[in-house]
Amino acid sequence: MNRLLFLTGNAGKLAEARHFFEPLGYRVEQFLIDGEVPIVIEPQSDSLKDVATSKIEQAKVHLNQSGQNGSILVEDAGLFIDELNGFPGVNSASVLKQIGLSGVLNLMSEITHRGAEFRACAVLFTGEELVFGVGVCRGTITSETLGDSGFGYDPIFSPDGEASGRTFGQMSRPEKEDFSHRAKALQSIKKQLDLLRR
Ligand code: IMP
Repeated sequence: MNRLLFLTGNAGKLAEARHFFEPLGYRVEQFLIDGEVPIVIEPQSDSLKDVATSKIEQAKVHLNQSGQNGSILVEDAGLFIDELNGFPGVNSASVLKQIGLSGVLNLMSEITHRGAEFRACAVLFTGEELVFGVGVCRGTITSETLGDSGFGYDPIFSPDGEASGRTFGQMSRPEKEDFSHRAKALQSIKKQLDLLRR
C-alpha cells in the first residue's frame, strides 16, 4: 500500500483525505517527524496555489531529510468575502486568531450582500510529479454564529444549495463533504491519479 503523508495539524482534514484516497490504495497518515508536524514557512502571496506549491517544495526537503518515503499532500484554503474584496483570503487563519468570528461579523454588520466563497488548493507530490486540485464553495455569511461542528469559519458560512440554510457548523462531516471546497480539490486530484494509473 502507498503511504500518503498529509502535512496538516487538522484531524478533520486528515479524515477527509482518508475518505478520498484510501479507496485508491493509499494509507493516509499525518506527516510527522519525531512526532511533530514539520514547520514550513508560509510565503507572502495572494495566491493559494503559490502558497501550496511553496509548502510542498519545503515538505519535499523535510521528507528527504527524514529518510521517510511516500507521497506528500498539502492543502491551503481560505474564506474570500465578496464585499470585503476577498478578505480574509490567504490570511484566514491569522485573521480568525486575531479578531475571531465575532470580529468578522462586526466588520459585516452594515453589509447586505453577504456572498462569499471558500477556496482550496491541494497539491500531491507522487514522488515523481505534482498533481494540483482546486475547489470552490459559494455561500453566504450568516448574521450570527450557528452550530459548533467543524472548525474555523464553519459556524458563519452557509453553502449555496443547502435547502434549510444551515451553516457548515450545523452539519456532520459527511454532510459538509457534499459542498466542501476541500472535497472538490481532493476529488479533482483523485480523478487525475485515476487517469495517471491507466
Ligand atoms: P488552511 O490553509 O486550509 O489551513 O486554512 C486556513 C484557514 O482558513 C483555516 O485556519 C480556517 O480558519 C479557514 N478555513 C479553511 N477551510 C475551512 C473550512 O472548511 N471551514 C472553515 N474554515 C476554513
